[in-house]
Amino acid sequence: MMPSDTVSQGVGAGIRARFPIFEHTTYANSCSQGALSVDVRRAYEEYLAGWDEHGAEWEHWVERADAARASFARLVSAEPDEVAVNTSVSQGVSGLISALPLEPGRNRIVISEFEFPTVGQIAHAQELRGAEVVHVRPDPDGRIPVERFAEVIDEQTALVCCTAISYRTGYRLDVVEIARLAHEQGALCLADSYQAAGAIPLDVRALGVDLLTSGTVKYLLASSGLAFMFVRRDLHERLMPTQTGWFADEDIFRMDISDYSPAADARRFDAGTPPVPNIYAGLAGMKIVEEVGEEAIEAHVKRLADRLLEGLDELEATVATPRGNGEYGPLVCVASTDAHALVEELQRERIVTSERDANLRISLHLYNVEEDIDRILGALAARRDLLKR
Ligand SMILES: Cc1ncc(COP(=O)(O)O)c(C=O)c1O
Repeated sequence: MMPSDTVSQGVGAGIRARFPIFEHTTYANSCSQGALSVDVRRAYEEYLAGWDEHGAEWEHWVERADAARASFARLVSAEPDEVAVNTSVSQGVSGLISALPLEPGRNRIVISEFEFPTVGQIAHAQELRGAEVVHVRPDPDGRIPVERFAEVIDEQTALVCCTAISYRTGYRLDVVEIARLAHEQGALCLADSYQAAGAIPLDVRALGVDLLTSGTVKYLLASSGLAFMFVRRDLHERLMPTQTGWFADEDIFRMDISDYSPAADARRFDAGTPPVPNIYAGLAGMKIVEEVGEEAIEAHVKRLADRLLEGLDELEATVATPRGNGEYGPLVCVASTDAHALVEELQRERIVTSERDANLRISLHLYNVEEDIDRILGALAARRDLLKR
């Protein structure tokens, strides 16, 4: 089937033809990298064609960066002036933390044990300027109940970092309640939503977060080198990043080196030359998500995840992902006696998954279908010896 210009085919079988990898592979690794679509390939080609045709297209590139900013803003129900365009979550979060005073009496950074390394490492780097970092650890059942956050968030807390979905277990944290606890103590709340954006609906107002990050590598269906950070509007004036760059200046093309005058809005968290090729790709990837709709994607993925969980129960596998209502999303983790070997065994059958912490990670997205689940379960049934029961 030839892809049309707009995504009208919805989820599952309807959209799968846009992702050529499914012609030969069962792809269930979107938690690591989303599959390549014909749309994203074409976007890269457009970038190259423009370069060939016109050479430097600075103004057009700035316009594309703003289009990406607006696209991400729509996906998380924010306004474009509340979104920074970054090259990675690391860059956005480093800029943000550089703007936090971390003075005595307000120097505590609370992080969940499920944070991605970059967030944890950036937090600990602040110990060099007087921060105290406190970890919130999961209970033995793999959950981090909000009470664990309540135990450590206090009037000394400047920032609470809670990832929306754990890259390690697929557990969904209760971001709404955690943000509420942070605010009760006058702290800011940052939700790293890399494992959530594109797979579940995200609404920054409903979540109540001050800051939210994600990038385009995973469920936003594009490539590395592009990320975003939502910064709530009323914080802009107060947060002055000391990690910066000319694309964060109030007037990019004035080329003025006489002072530091960052943009009045969240663009003050941009930095250098925008990652133009990745922006082309990111726009194409986010367009697919936007046109299909995060609600439709979430519902589709839930159906598939539930089928997978049922099959795993039949195999008597140990599921590491907490399974309560609203506690899981697109990522299901299965305990293995040798996760590395299991990933390789599946790979031999052209089933792509990944591993973390002795668990097999199976992640599902809009292009997966029931047949993928059945193939995965069939392959796992044949390698029961590698499942921890
Ligand atoms: C939850 C989460 N945060 C952040 C990242 C990546 O951060 P960065 O864009 O700095 O490489 C990932 C990617 O694997 C992730 O899963």
